[in-house]
Amino acid sequence: MDSSRSLEHVLSMQGGEDDVSYAKNSYGPAAALASSKEILTSAIHSIKLTKGCSYSHLKIADLGCAVGDNTFSTVDTVVEVLRKKLAVDDGGAELEIEVFFSDLPSNDFNMLFRSLEGKVNGSSQKYFAAGVPGSFYKRLFPKGELHVVVTSSALQWLSQIPEKVMEKGSKTWNKGRVWIEGAEKEVVEAYAEQSEKDLIEFLKCRKEEIVVGGVLFMLMGGRPCGSMSQFGDPDTSVKHPFSSSMNQAWQDLVDEGLIEEEKRDGFNIPVYNRSTDEIAAGIERVGGFKIEKMENLRIADHMNDRQEELMKDLDSYGRTRANLAQAGLKPVVQAYLGPDLTGKLFKQYAIQAARDKEILMKNCFYSMIAVSAIRV
Ligand SMILES: C[S@@+](CC[C@H](N)C(=O)[O-])C[C@H]1O[C@@H](n2cnc3c(N)ncnc32)[C@H](O)[C@@H]1O
Repeated sequence: MDSSRSLEHVLSMQGGEDDVSYAKNSYGPAAALASSKEILTSAIHSIKLTKGCSYSHLKIADLGCAVGDNTFSTVDTVVEVLRKKLAVDDGGAELEIEVFFSDLPSNDFNMLFRSLEGKVNGSSQKYFAAGVPGSFYKRLFPKGELHVVVTSSALQWLSQIPEKVMEKGSKTWNKGRVWIEGAEKEVVEAYAEQSEKDLIEFLKCRKEEIVVGGVLFMLMGGRPCGSMSQFGDPDTSVKHPFSSSMNQAWQDLVDEGLIEEEKRDGFNIPVYNRSTDEIAAGIERVGGFKIEKMENLRIADHMNDRQEELMKDLDSYGRTRANLAQAGLKPVVQAYLGPDLTGKLFKQYAIQAARDKEILMKNCFYSMIAVSAIRV
């Protein structure tokens, strides 16, 4: 993966509905959405549509929508709250709502469109739906077009691996691991720079696209302010899908002579968890938005309260952990390693995850940041 173009064309969650699909492994983002529902609801209540802006036709976009229950539950919340609010504010005038589901072109839009039929027609809160393929780090809509933009569990994905991290032998070459947790300071800083650039590009585009008075709601992977670690919590740091087991599985491929060390070192997961300070700084720098609320949420891993039960069948536990990792990473890894080695990697991942009982017993929490802002 050496350029934003290539990442944009291979990054997606695993489509379909089998055991490794994102649709079957999106508990974490679902829990984060549930925890931040109040912030989203209150943001929509703050929408201030100005005179000359029609109340009768509102446009919502979900950026990085993927496919699965979360895709629809976010939009359902927005539609439901908007309808209730405008019924009060506007005397129940007929409201038509258009929803744009947007993600990178490799997202499983086929499945999304197939699921839509039942969702849109089966619900009493009807809306018109469209799919918009493209990166949210670029313009996706005409100026002043959107009233509500939501993005959940997506903005921690960077537009590209920082170029510096791809310079072999440099201080920013991420030797011995595939992500930044536990990496050298220079590698983490290179990611932080990329993250800052990306957030600014994202906000500049949304500043153009959202009408004055409209709402931007962002829910993204986060970390405590001032923490070099992506989590600020040592247990999560070893148990997260992108850390220990992932590094061990890549090392197994190296040890078995299936790939060169350099090949492993050249693969990096394009994810960076921002702090609230970094997000606030980006919003201030771009201007045009007033933060309504910003909260750091602590989301418990869905396996935390099943440790005793999971301990009884370690192979199955290992596979469950590997499925979760694949749901987010398989398409990117496959583009880099090809299908055979990818299969081997995640098999090793399952073995490594099953091997470490001490890690199994640790509780894991994901830090997520929810921000709501009004376009001013
Ligand atoms: C973890 S999923 C979250 C999906 C869903 N919003 C949820 O809450 O479950 C992240 C999504 O962000 C998308 N994504 C990542 N980078 C993106 C980009 N630059 N532009 C648009 N979508 C992107 C991925 O393709 C993926 O579908």
